[in-house]
Amino acid sequence: MLRNTADSWGAPAKLFHWVMAALILAQIALGVMAASWRVSPAKLELFFWHKSNGMLILALVALRLLWRLANPPPELPSGMAAWERAAARLSHLLLYALMIAMPVTGWIVSSASNVPFRIFWLIPLPAIVAPDEPTADLVALVHGGLAVLLALVLSAHIGAALRHHFVKRDAVLERMLPGIRRAP
Ligand code: HEM
Ligand code: HEM
Repeated sequence: MLRNTADSWGAPAKLFHWVMAALILAQIALGVMAASWRVSPAKLELFFWHKSNGMLILALVALRLLWRLANPPPELPSGMAAWERAAARLSHLLLYALMIAMPVTGWIVSSASNVPFRIFWLIPLPAIVAPDEPTADLVALVHGGLAVLLALVLSAHIGAALRHHFVKRDAVLERMLPGIRRAP
């Protein structure tokens, strides 16, 4: 039940996928709200949750990648065309890259803006760059641009999962769902 097999995901891989999916979707909403809110205590509160949740995502993706290194993913269904395999590989690679690049660019913005901050009230976030307003402004643009890219790749990802289930009628969506070990 723990390890991935040739045709299914093990429980830890599913748990990583769905917990992180929920945290990332919430994170995009929090980011858009925090950035667009008028200056107020509520805006600071939204940034507190955005930054804390974002650093949690960074820690989780590191653990998830370690687990994935020790657990090769299941094979794709044999009927998939070469372009579909390439699209799946590229989009998953992009999603992992963005799960790292989003928090790291956010961390740079936070450091460059020189706002002291404790992750979930507990762990002081160390600065990874020196305070500098132009850096903060530039990397904030990169962070926002990458968020748009993430939203686009995620739309394709979710669309592809639904296409596998409802159009191609293969086991790709079902094998990622909790509780289902192997699709019929
Ligand atoms: C909410 C709707 C979502 C659905 C229906 C969905 C569905 C799936 C499915 C079915 C797979 C397995 C593909 C396979 O077995 O080959 C998968 C893999 C994956 N999903 Fe999602 N997903 C969703 C959200 C997300 C989100 C928000 C992220 C975060 C960036 C994400 C990142 C990934 C990654 C990186 C993989 C590849 C896993 C690996 O190869 O290690 N997914 N998703
Ligand atoms: C997966 C992780 C993350 C995602 C998906 C994400 C997403 C977003 C989004 C969608 C925005 C709004 C962009 C806009 O409307 O202009 C935003 C803004 C922001 N995020 Fe993140 N973020 C993540 C992690 C982080 C982390 C870890 C930090 C800091 C420690 C952070 C700090 C910020 C800051 C300071 C802004 C405001 C930038 C500005 O001034 O325009 N983010 N983020």
